[in-house]
Amino acid sequence: MTIIGAPINRTDGWAKVSGSARYSAEHPVAGLAHAYLVTSTIPSGRIKRIALDTEVPGVLLVMTHENVLQLPRETKAGKLAPPIGRVLSLLQDAEVHYNNQPVAVVVAETFEAAREAASRLRIEYETSPARLDFEEAKQHVHPPEKVLTQDTDTRRGNLQAGMLSGSTSIDLSYRTPVEHHNPIEPHATIAAWDGDHLTLYDSTQYMKGVQRTVASTLGIAPDNVTVLCPYVGGGFGCKGSVWSHVVLAAMAAKMVDRPVKLVLDRTHMFGPVGQRPVTDQRMRLAAMSDGRLTASAHDTIAYTSMIEDWIEPCGLMTRMMYASPNQETTHRLARMHLGTPTFMRAPGEASGSFALESSMDELAYELGIDPLQLRLQNYTERDPGKDLPFSSKSLRQCYDIGAERFGWSGRNPQPRSMRAGDKLVGWGMATATYPTNRSKGKASATLHPDGKAVFRSSTQDLGTGTYTVMTQIAADALGVPVERVSFELGNSQLPEAPVSGGSTTVASVGPAVQAAGHALRLKLVGIALGDERSPLFGALADEVDARDGELFLRADPSKRETMAAIVARQAGGPVEVEAGADPGDASKHYSMHAFGAVFVEVHVDELLGEVRVPRVVGVYGVGKLMNAKTGHSQLMGGIVGGLGMALFEETVFDARNGRAVNGNLAEYHVPVNADIGRIEVEVMEEDDPHVNPLGAKGIGEIGITGVAAAVANAVFHATGKRIRSLPITLDKLL
Ligand code: MOS
Repeated sequence: MTIIGAPINRTDGWAKVSGSARYSAEHPVAGLAHAYLVTSTIPSGRIKRIALDTEVPGVLLVMTHENVLQLPRETKAGKLAPPIGRVLSLLQDAEVHYNNQPVAVVVAETFEAAREAASRLRIEYETSPARLDFEEAKQHVHPPEKVLTQDTDTRRGNLQAGMLSGSTSIDLSYRTPVEHHNPIEPHATIAAWDGDHLTLYDSTQYMKGVQRTVASTLGIAPDNVTVLCPYVGGGFGCKGSVWSHVVLAAMAAKMVDRPVKLVLDRTHMFGPVGQRPVTDQRMRLAAMSDGRLTASAHDTIAYTSMIEDWIEPCGLMTRMMYASPNQETTHRLARMHLGTPTFMRAPGEASGSFALESSMDELAYELGIDPLQLRLQNYTERDPGKDLPFSSKSLRQCYDIGAERFGWSGRNPQPRSMRAGDKLVGWGMATATYPTNRSKGKASATLHPDGKAVFRSSTQDLGTGTYTVMTQIAADALGVPVERVSFELGNSQLPEAPVSGGSTTVASVGPAVQAAGHALRLKLVGIALGDERSPLFGALADEVDARDGELFLRADPSKRETMAAIVARQAGGPVEVEAGADPGDASKHYSMHAFGAVFVEVHVDELLGEVRVPRVVGVYGVGKLMNAKTGHSQLMGGIVGGLGMALFEETVFDARNGRAVNGNLAEYHVPVNADIGRIEVEVMEEDDPHVNPLGAKGIGEIGITGVAAAVANAVFHATGKRIRSLPITLDKLL
């Protein structure tokens, strides 16, 4: 009767489909004024003059660098603690560093008046030369300080010697484009001051991060900021950082002395709130004739903005994936007049796996070895980069079962050898992986006299199922039916939880919820044992079990009492506990990763160059799945994101002014239902006692990894054309 893992429906499903779930822009706030963000139309220079020359009825404030609230000196430049805090544009000077940079905020009685006034705002610029060409920017690179928490460059063995000792080698470059997150719900903030206290309804992946970042930027105590966000309409990484508009909304609200709502429009989503940068990835591989790698090198160049360093960590997967004795990886940054890039859908693994797993396929063809066999030849039970054993790894089974389900053995390796009607058919595969991260988390648990339990943590649900799986974990730990548990999140005043990024929410908050459930159960047992009115009076704590909301003696189950009855006898009302869970030092002893294998079939129309994907099989080892239904959906969603990356997604910047020319959902293409064929997801049974007490590895991001390479490999198999630059659009195939 294990509730953990059960495919129960989303506990927030009804609220979502009935429309009662409130998103950040939808909270009713009395006396609300409406703000519209004004952004630059040049990539580099300074504002000479900015003014609203016409009267627009209802306008309350045109907030510009000339009249804006001055921030404390230390946060004037908006330099906040990276990686969550970012270098912001808070109108403290007249400088413009990229196109679409916030330069003003108009506040009015209505949204329409604010937008109207924004469109009539006259801005004169003094423009400076801008670096907008990546090829040119690449001529002047610098190393970032760190790549996430790892070293920028790594070296093991002797690359030169290793390259020479292989019988076959390749040296190829791969390119991924700028991609924007585009959650359905754009960034949105309502800022309301009550004296010194600021309440923010903000669409975010990190309650506590918004609280601390906004407080430190404004120079006020974190206790004076409350962040609320019960629902998030998708994040994908862009809501993991605090961007300029959040602080600007708070500043505008202060200036007009009214609550202010600031919602980014779709075009604002293409510049001031991050994106995946262009990456240029050079892969060098050498192998012996049996396929064993003798050397591998992965050199990444990505762009960053003029104001901040942010690197796409493409080489991290290459460091741990295959047993290559000689290896070098590097990461370099090229500055451009574009908005600062950021975390997006498996940053590093999504983009890096395109290069690594495409190059492995190319090497397989050079060697005349089956691509899957090449992976098996280089399989490793230890992380060769960290020189640690993996805490668990079911990748071999993922390959086996994936190949079996897909029918890989029926593949004719010869390119252009398979057809379906008038379409060329291609089969490709790739390896997927994502690190299993974990941070500190806290949660509280309360049992009420009516037997209802409420668990709370300041975590987030991006639409992925946090409400649901935390409810399951809580019910299991306390020993009550899942229907009697509710879970509250999305409030910075609740016990602290980390960012919902890096696929860490279940691994970090889950153990805290579990610990709170255990602690509450123990507290109830303690109360019963010491209370002569209880049938359990005088027993020992370890003789007592809990199930279905009741405590009972294991040796004599007739001695039992409901938890509700125990609470009801308490004069002080509900019984409450708080508990925390700490990652400990497992990462010192183990390298922790989720793994998977993804197999893709493509059909290519030779005359039109159109690529369709009728079939994907993804098999994953992700520890213990907390909910079979939401878990499968999430992995499937990741694969859909991977198909978007493979075939559709690309932001094109105008080379003259650095503005996104397809900065909207009509021209920034993401897959729609008609683009998606059959997606089969299978999850291995995997027991991992090391990752965390739940044994759950993160599943938020692994789904997208490997998919673009599998598609590119399938396209090569179908057509004989190797596309090393995403997305694989029809022009590249004609
Ligand atoms: Mo994810 S890109 O770590 O929000």
